[in-house]
Amino acid sequence: MHHFRYSGHDLHCESVDLAAVARLYGTPTYVYSATTITENYQRLQRSLSGLDLQVCYAMKANGNLALLRLFSNLGAGFDLVSGGEIRRVVAAGGNLRKSVFAGVGKSEAEIKLALENQVFAFHVESEPELARINHVAGTLGVKAPIAIRVNPDVDAQTHAKITTGKSDNKFGIPLRQAGAAYEAAAKLKNIEVKGVQIHIGSQLTSVAPFVEAVKKLVPFVADLKANHGISYFSIGGGMGIVYRDALASGEQAWWSNQPAGQGMITPESYGEALTPLLAPLGLKILLEHGRFMVGNAGVLLTRVEHLKRGASKNFLIVDAAMNDLVRPAMYDSYHEIVPLHRDSSRRALVADIVGPVCESTDCFAKDRQLQEVGEGELLAFMSAGAYGYAMANRYNARLMPAEVVVRGSSFELVNARETFEQTIANEKIPAFLK
Ligand code: LLP
Repeated sequence: MHHFRYSGHDLHCESVDLAAVARLYGTPTYVYSATTITENYQRLQRSLSGLDLQVCYAMKANGNLALLRLFSNLGAGFDLVSGGEIRRVVAAGGNLRKSVFAGVGKSEAEIKLALENQVFAFHVESEPELARINHVAGTLGVKAPIAIRVNPDVDAQTHAKITTGKSDNKFGIPLRQAGAAYEAAAKLKNIEVKGVQIHIGSQLTSVAPFVEAVKKLVPFVADLKANHGISYFSIGGGMGIVYRDALASGEQAWWSNQPAGQGMITPESYGEALTPLLAPLGLKILLEHGRFMVGNAGVLLTRVEHLKRGASKNFLIVDAAMNDLVRPAMYDSYHEIVPLHRDSSRRALVADIVGPVCESTDCFAKDRQLQEVGEGELLAFMSAGAYGYAMANRYNARLMPAEVVVRGSSFELVNARETFEQTIANEKIPAFLK
């Protein structure tokens, strides 16, 4: 479920009219619903309530400080992948002792920072990384808690660019070598073997690959508990969300919007399938979902610059571009695009919806049908809360967009639009060019 719906003719986030937000803060602007995030978090927890659960929100999906504080208030830890993410959690007042540090290339400085902040565990992706963590922990005179990320070689049946659990992906240690890696880890003086981790990919729309991966791991995990006394099993993140008809789906139960029989994943079906496999292990279970928590809780507001009627096509040129929301350009992903003011008396328009960036791939949608809109009118990209702002950049010397959080009838600007001066603050003209 999410909290974006039309009240009268105007799209609202909770009780806030999104056009008012656009008027105040301009466009492009991301808007997040705090109530949707809270409900997603609690719903996921409820769905696996039979387990000793620790949710580590994968903040790479959206690392806005206000959202990190919201997750922290809800009791979440974080799934971290860089020193920058560690520092963001600190800045937001979040709990690093419940957080895990993942990633294939942790630097010595990042490992040190994580140890100083007493992260719950490192998710180790290779033997050389294990040696590096052991070394850094030694210099600090502490033991580093670790889990090894095991690559289960399971097909997540998702987009190739976001698959991580196949043997040809760079992630994790293959299951058949993992036993030896644990033996090696146990011998290292500054390492405390604490758990095991898997993550097979993102935007999984069915439960089956999760079940396959967990089933494949269970005997190995039980052995680790017996032989190494591990206390937790992280099953990663990856739960998919509905992108098509995302708006309508908020008005019903959004998962029921899928064509019957396709078995779109839900927290409930995920919990129902996995709880019986995980409970007998008697371990703490970590979850690292990112997209599920925030994806449908955010939209990107944009304004129409022009409607350009071409020879064979119409182009609706908007003020957001691939630098603000890169997912369509990068993964051909679908985002529903809707007008903020709905007017059923208008004619339909079929157009490519494009941004101002000088690249043909700066295209959000091809031959998309929506009501006719013109210059100055406002649109929303739905389901933009995950990997939206987080992947935004400044290509074409554009400014990073603004971010707003809504709860009920309150809303607040939580990240002001970048200024031009900020973008050049670290640059200088060298003396030899003066
Ligand atoms: N845990 C690990 C180890 C991960 O690598 C990821 C995502 C997650 C958790 C969270 O996955 P989620 O629950 O959000 O699916 N930029 C892409 C998605 C990349 C995901 C990378 N890893 C997109 O926009 O679709």
